[in-house]
Amino acid sequence: MKVAIIGAGNMGSAIAGGLAQGQFISTEQITVSNPSNEKLERLKASYPTIHITNNNVEAAMQADLIIVAVKPWLVESVIRPLKLKKPQLLVSLAAGVSFEQLAHYANSELTMFRVIPNTAIEQQASMTVIAERNASTEQQQTILSIFSEMGRAMMLPENQMGAATALASCGLAYVMKYVQAAMQAGVESGLRPHEAMTLVAQSLEGAAQILLNTSTHPSLEIDKITTPGGLTIKGLNALEHEGFTSAVIKAMKAAQ
Ligand SMILES: NC(=O)c1ccc[n+]([C@@H]2O[C@H](COP(=O)([O-])OP(=O)(O)OC[C@H]3O[C@@H](n4cnc5c(N)ncnc54)[C@H](OP(=O)(O)O)[C@@H]3O)[C@@H](O)[C@H]2O)c1
Repeated sequence: MKVAIIGAGNMGSAIAGGLAQGQFISTEQITVSNPSNEKLERLKASYPTIHITNNNVEAAMQADLIIVAVKPWLVESVIRPLKLKKPQLLVSLAAGVSFEQLAHYANSELTMFRVIPNTAIEQQASMTVIAERNASTEQQQTILSIFSEMGRAMMLPENQMGAATALASCGLAYVMKYVQAAMQAGVESGLRPHEAMTLVAQSLEGAAQILLNTSTHPSLEIDKITTPGGLTIKGLNALEHEGFTSAVIKAMKAAQ
């Protein structure tokens, strides 16, 4: 499968790197297009056999899969000249650009995917949300497999993309905010910032591994840590007195 990535910014470059390091697509089959050269040259330095160009049409012409990774307001002007046609597959990363809009910019019969990774894609640890239009089960599986190489990927109906993006993409910023707050507490208690950050980040990693690798539930895991009359319940109750649960729900709903 030949892949064209249009836009070599944060997302485009991370996906190019993820694909180049993965098993599905060989580096020679990847072309990345961007108007300026610096990011392209950085990619070429890391993956010498990758193709780079400043010409989007040339990149897309021979590709089976076209990944559009430009800012949402550029999507229309980037997609229209590509004149994509079946059986080419279009993947749009643009947050907030619906299938209905994409169908106006490209052939409406085209198979399309809306893909929303989060910034952990740079570490190949993204939670990527995917919706499809006109895709066969096999095509859905292909796109799921490609993005699963860069973390985890989940197929959802388009009308759930907003909720899922709030949890998975905006949620990453909320988790960072939690880490920052916990670090401030640790530093006040005498820990060095990098020690505090490692303590919190590894605890998050542990929590994530427990939840993702076993068929458990947060309530069960909280019970295991919470000794009656102990310290953890004092902290948990302090969080609730400050409205922690309500604040998280409000943040998730505000970002949809
Ligand atoms: N960042 C995130 O967390 C995130 C998460 C999910 C989805 N997304 C979506 O991913 C898309 C890309 O975001 P990003 O953060 O990667 O943006 P970015 O870093 O600004 O990258 C956009 C790239 O597009 C290039 N570009 C501009 N005009 C172009 C054109 N006409 N043809 C080809 N390339 C062009 C830019 O090149 P120059 O710099 O040379 O102008 C830049 O390298 C957005 O639609 C965003 O909504 C982002």
